[in-house]
Amino acid sequence: MRLPLVAGNWKMHKDHREAVDLVRELDGLLAGLEGVEVAVCPPFTALSDVARTLKESRSRIVLGAQGGYRAPEGAYTGEISPRMLKALEVHYVIVGHSERREIIGEGDQLVAAKARAVLEEGMVPILCVGETLEEREEGKAESKVRGQLESALAAWSSDEASALVIAYEPIWAIGTGKTATPEDAQEMNSFIRGWLAERFGQDTASGVRILYGGSVKPDNAAELMAMPDVDGALVGGASLKAADFAAIARFRE
Ligand code: PGA
Repeated sequence: MRLPLVAGNWKMHKDHREAVDLVRELDGLLAGLEGVEVAVCPPFTALSDVARTLKESRSRIVLGAQGGYRAPEGAYTGEISPRMLKALEVHYVIVGHSERREIIGEGDQLVAAKARAVLEEGMVPILCVGETLEEREEGKAESKVRGQLESALAAWSSDEASALVIAYEPIWAIGTGKTATPEDAQEMNSFIRGWLAERFGQDTASGVRILYGGSVKPDNAAELMAMPDVDGALVGGASLKAADFAAIARFRE
């Protein structure tokens, strides 16, 4: 059985003080929750304080980051290395988010290199894939996602892939309030699992967690995660409110 993962992507929100307040409040609201893994991905400037807060309160919330460069160190002004993240006990790193691809201009090659760099530091990439509205309407959603998987995971072995988390995030559903239907999410997640099975074998494919992301809220979380191939959620906007995010994590209750 795959343990569901509910991960909060805080994007460019919360300074280090606000981040500590949010994670403390969240930790209180999650007391006693079993059978769901919960992660938060604060901005870089808050990681150290959030890491310390989680440790001090012996929280079960897992720390994630929103990115990192492809190299362990070097002359890359403005970048953060996966090694630095690892030193803060970061476990998950979001890679290939559509905002990085579309706004910052990260291409498939850089996404692939970043995913490997995260893996090589012993952390787990949350690899984001997804299509635009135009691509969906033209019937090209699956070929877009297949292309993103093929390029990001070209150099991966089956063993390596078994540690991976994938997030299907249709770009038209991110921050728009338009959620994919549970059936849309299931269809794509099952397509992704099928691709993983072809590429890495059935055993690996059955173990990989495939999340859905895009306007996940307390009132749609349960029906999305009830789908057999939706193993959790990557949550943006609703992860900034402790009560909403906790309600999503408690989707089974
Ligand atoms: P959203 O963002 O929940 O605000 O739509 C999801 C994401 O971009 O990861």
